[in-house]
Amino acid sequence: MHIHILSLFPESMKTYLDSSILKRAQEKGLFEYSLHNLTDWTVRNTRRVDDRPYGGWAGTILTIEPLTHALRDLEKEFGKMKILYPSPRWNILTQEKCESYIVTEDIHYCLICGHYEGIDERIFELFDIEEISIGKYVLSSGELASLVWIDSVIRLIPWALSPESLKEESFSNALEWKKEYPQYSRPEIFEGIDVPKILLSGDMKKICAWNHAHTKE
Ligand code: ADE
Repeated sequence: MHIHILSLFPESMKTYLDSSILKRAQEKGLFEYSLHNLTDWTVRNTRRVDDRPYGGWAGTILTIEPLTHALRDLEKEFGKMKILYPSPRWNILTQEKCESYIVTEDIHYCLICGHYEGIDERIFELFDIEEISIGKYVLSSGELASLVWIDSVIRLIPWALSPESLKEESFSNALEWKKEYPQYSRPEIFEGIDVPKILLSGDMKKICAWNHAHTKE
């Protein structure tokens, strides 16, 4: 999987993309990413990518030209991409939806990281773009939401994590889409609080029953 990220602050995403599970997934050849700076496609010798929206609302939005040029150039170089626009407007991301993005190995995704007050709506007439929201609140820009999308999708690629780790986590099929049961580690007693005795019993049947009884809707 190849993920292109169109951003005004591409450097802000690098540390997260190159750490932990995402780093290991790249080392295993499961995905690669390219950061593209939207200001590389500005027009008329300006470095501006935003302007005031017609109709007089406060603030500015991303203008249509740099975005269109960027998407066309990337598609020329890499072929058809599945374009995603993180925005608070539509389609709240769910675990089921995240799973649906794992399709073919050679798919190219392109995430448009918005900034300012939005984006020129005509972009949706020129390109097939899926909007994804990560929740009912507003972020200042799309970088964080894009990282959420990348993290939640990449960890689902087979072998990004061990199959056991994915099997019984929150919202998984094995837990009937419920939330994961509580878990404990050493020490057995901490500040007077015990680990539930059954988890120390070694009786896997009872432990499984306990775990399932402690999932939440
Ligand atoms: N950009 C701003 N707010 C957002 C949200 N809630 N989800 C996705 N992208 C966003």
